[in-house]
Amino acid sequence: MTLLRSLNQLQLYSSKLVHTNLFRTTTKYSLIRNTGNYQRNQSLQNALRRFTTNDASNTGSIRNQKIIGYWLAGCAGLTFATVCIGGITRLTESGLSMVDWHPFKEVPPSSKEAWESEFEKYKQYPEWKVKNQEITLEQFKWIWFMEYAHRTLGRTIGAVYFLPMAFFWYKKWFNKPMKIRTLIFGSILGFQGFLGWYMVKSGLEAKTVYNHEPRVSQYRLAAHLGTAMVFYSLIFWNALTNLLPNPQATQLPKITSSLVKFKRLTMMSKLLVFTTAISGAFVAGLDAGLVYNTWPKMADRWIPSDMFRHNPLWKNFFENATTVQFDHRHLAEATSLFILAVWAYSLKLKLPPRARMASNLLAACVLAQATLGICTLLYHVPVELASAHQAGALTTLSVALWLSQELKWIKRIPK
Ligand code: HEM
Repeated sequence: MTLLRSLNQLQLYSSKLVHTNLFRTTTKYSLIRNTGNYQRNQSLQNALRRFTTNDASNTGSIRNQKIIGYWLAGCAGLTFATVCIGGITRLTESGLSMVDWHPFKEVPPSSKEAWESEFEKYKQYPEWKVKNQEITLEQFKWIWFMEYAHRTLGRTIGAVYFLPMAFFWYKKWFNKPMKIRTLIFGSILGFQGFLGWYMVKSGLEAKTVYNHEPRVSQYRLAAHLGTAMVFYSLIFWNALTNLLPNPQATQLPKITSSLVKFKRLTMMSKLLVFTTAISGAFVAGLDAGLVYNTWPKMADRWIPSDMFRHNPLWKNFFENATTVQFDHRHLAEATSLFILAVWAYSLKLKLPPRARMASNLLAACVLAQATLGICTLLYHVPVELASAHQAGALTTLSVALWLSQELKWIKRIPK
């Protein structure tokens, strides 16, 4: 029995070691010969872990791999901060204050004349014309700096991502899959910068003035937030891959069909959180948090009467504030109930301590996130609650990713 179990556990490591000849030729077969010698198997497994954690680094050095992990974690942290500042920029209505864009050459005006000229440029656009004619130069400076902070943080991510990437590449620290991944992540990051400007541009056009409120296109806002979340998820996931120690083989419970099912349900949870967050971006983009500020009913109805007032029907799901809010709140409720049900299911499973912690934390996060969403709605979207709600979405997604990482060892039920 002991031998079988240690063999199973070793097989889990083997999936990571497809390219390691050492493993194929020496480990597996010598283990089969060492019948019952659990102590020796264990020291062999420990030696193997040096190789199995080598997910990004070409050199096989654990130190290099950790450095790559910290680099990616740093980029993820900065991305998190940039998304939050982006949310506050939108909520304080500062996003349309800078009316042009250059990927690198953007510095604050350095003299009173330069500020006045920047202010004059702003006055040519709908936000000033339609609702901000009372704004003073000092107030303009404040919203300008808010948008500038968001753009500068975006550029900082670019520097913190691309410069070390070039260094690691030059030092030959990346293996081939990691080289491909870093190129993909870099392209997403570059695209994200462009999307940011593409979104702002929509708010500078006269046709996007609704109810005396110039707004960016909700489609572009959702694309900008969605791409940020994809980039964040990818680098956070890879950071965890490099930084999290593999679970102790001896602590891993036997793989059962319930564990495999739990892993699948966790994947679904990630997907649901992501989808709910994108639907939230549409709520934000249409200011749909300012209609029907009641919960659980919308006014005194479960299904409001103006849900399908646009033609064709599909437009309501993206352009009708009532329908967009209806979708987000019910998708969010379904996501929360699903995650809580998965958590309840996990209670009867035997999980390693870190996976248990991640599972508990995910349940707590989704509860807090739903509560924050409801409060944001009931209090008519105050900046503090709405930005906490946005940060909460990324936190919940991060914990779901962490839980998935902790379940990576569950491959399939051994025959
Ligand atoms: C799993 C749970 C939830 C997730 C992941 C989630 C995610 C999000 C995200 C990402 C946004 C966009 C934030 C922005 O761009 O500023 C958002 C907005 C919003 N959500 Fe949720 N949400 C959840 C639950 C809820 C619930 C239960 C409600 C209310 C019933 C709610 C109400 C709102 C409102 C009113 C907004 C608009 C806030 C604004 O204009 O900034 N959310 N949500």
